[in-house]
Amino acid sequence: MKVTVAKTAGFCFGVKRAVETVYEQLNVHPDVPIYTWGPIIHNEEVLADLERRGVKTIESLDEIGELPKGIIIVRAHGVSREVFEHLDQSGMRVIDATCPFVKKIHRIVEQKSGEGNQIIVVGSGAHPEVQGIVGWSKTPAKVIESVEEAGKYYPDAEKTVCIVAQTTFNYKKFKDVVEKISEKSYDSTAVDTICNATYERQREAAELSAQSDIMFVIGGKSSSNTQKLYEICRQHCPHTHYIQTAEDIADEWLWTDASVGITAGASTPKNIIEEVQTKCQN
Ligand code: F3S
Repeated sequence: MKVTVAKTAGFCFGVKRAVETVYEQLNVHPDVPIYTWGPIIHNEEVLADLERRGVKTIESLDEIGELPKGIIIVRAHGVSREVFEHLDQSGMRVIDATCPFVKKIHRIVEQKSGEGNQIIVVGSGAHPEVQGIVGWSKTPAKVIESVEEAGKYYPDAEKTVCIVAQTTFNYKKFKDVVEKISEKSYDSTAVDTICNATYERQREAAELSAQSDIMFVIGGKSSSNTQKLYEICRQHCPHTHYIQTAEDIADEWLWTDASVGITAGASTPKNIIEEVQTKCQN
């Protein structure tokens, strides 16, 4: 069996940086309570390890007042300006591990909305990254997830439209949405804020799945970027499986002489990818 692991599988720069920040703080301040704003990563195993080490996940601003003072780490997805200011005034020490690429979107949205532009965020409104981005707009931002939605949306004709994307959004879908909006001949500018890490991972996944008989996509159940990888691989390889760990692999999925491709979402640690690789090889 030939097993190939995608070079871009696993942690991206921003997630690696955020996770390392938490471990670093645990080392430097072993006696100080450490909190993360929301789960630092979409990976159950990493989260369980952090919990064992005493890291607590905070889900709402109401919880903060009741907790002993400590360090609160903002995850790579980022937060809205309102949440950030609340955290800052809570008496906790705030460490901002927002990915610099997400931070850049916050700055664009803040500036362009301040100049009177209508902000459109192409992405999933349910995703915390998008909610954070929307929260930096000085005027109500519109979230659009599909070309159909773009077709039904008519912004104020007086306003210039500024379109940005969720970093993990599918590049082709983003282009289609932008095209749909410019068809209506609004004065619009689109800033492609899709992260290169995602694009590269998607491109490599498409290429690898096209050459593989069996494809494994590893990632947490709630990771949107893993779900997208799965959709892409599925188009090229009908034997694509979405798994969380090596234990999910059923023996009947594998056959002798098959070429197996492996990729993983941005939140999948290296050791999990290696376990899947070993299981396939054995
Ligand atoms: Fe940042 Fe890109 Fe990862 S935006 S969090 S490096 S997917």
